[in-house]
Amino acid sequence: MRRRLWPNLPAVLFVTLAFWVVLPTTTVATEEPPSELNTASATPIVGGKPADIDQYPWVVYLSDSRGKQFCGGALVASDKVLTAAHCVIDRRAPRVDVVAGRADKNSQRGRVLGVTDIWSHPDYRSPYQGADVAVLTLREPVSRSVVKLATPSDDGLYGDSTEATVLGWGARSEEGQHSDVLHRATVPVVGDAECAKVYDRQFVPNAMVCAGYPDGGVDACQGDSGGPLVVGNKIIGIVSWGVGCARPGKPGVYTEVAAYTDRIRARF
Ligand code: ARG
Repeated sequence: MRRRLWPNLPAVLFVTLAFWVVLPTTTVATEEPPSELNTASATPIVGGKPADIDQYPWVVYLSDSRGKQFCGGALVASDKVLTAAHCVIDRRAPRVDVVAGRADKNSQRGRVLGVTDIWSHPDYRSPYQGADVAVLTLREPVSRSVVKLATPSDDGLYGDSTEATVLGWGARSEEGQHSDVLHRATVPVVGDAECAKVYDRQFVPNAMVCAGYPDGGVDACQGDSGGPLVVGNKIIGIVSWGVGCARPGKPGVYTEVAAYTDRIRARF
């Protein structure tokens, strides 16, 4: 009997520790009951729900040469993918693939497309300084519908409380793993003045837009970067950065697409 008890001790310690570590962030992020903490029913994009990719045919993910998803993106032309510069700045085109039409990473649905060119905005230094935008060129065009770029005349969409949708395969909580399936969440745009109060000089108003609820609970998270923030069929933001995920008073920060429309179109 004794011999059977001891080998279990490490397991008991591990489970106890895991609860200590996971409990604080997960409770804040999703307010799920503790019974769901270590189940596989992860809800990525904190506070979101599974999305039907046929409703968002232009949403894609980026995978590395081993097939691992590392960022999101959106088809903005038949052979162009919009993503964040910080996603691809250290990568070479031959080692990046774009996966289109595959909501579940474990399925074989959709297509895996090679990349022939990576353009990152020349002003990009770090996400906190803006210009966190990149355009990938696909080896061949795909016949899927594309998402429209917001333009400077869409100023109204960047106002307080526009309801926007963020999509991605990222983490469900700050310490969580990336999700297997595409998720979406609705987040209200936070006006520039409000967001500047929160992030001070790390928020660059003409290069970024914020979105999130005052109480947090819904947000993009690690692995969602590069993915789209859309209003209807228009992309207004690119997942860029945040402080943790879904924390109260810490909205997610997105690249303001309308500030870069011309630079993006110049790649078409
Ligand atoms: N930088 C992260 C990434 O590379 C995205 C962070 C977004 N965070 C947020 N709280 N909205 O995946």
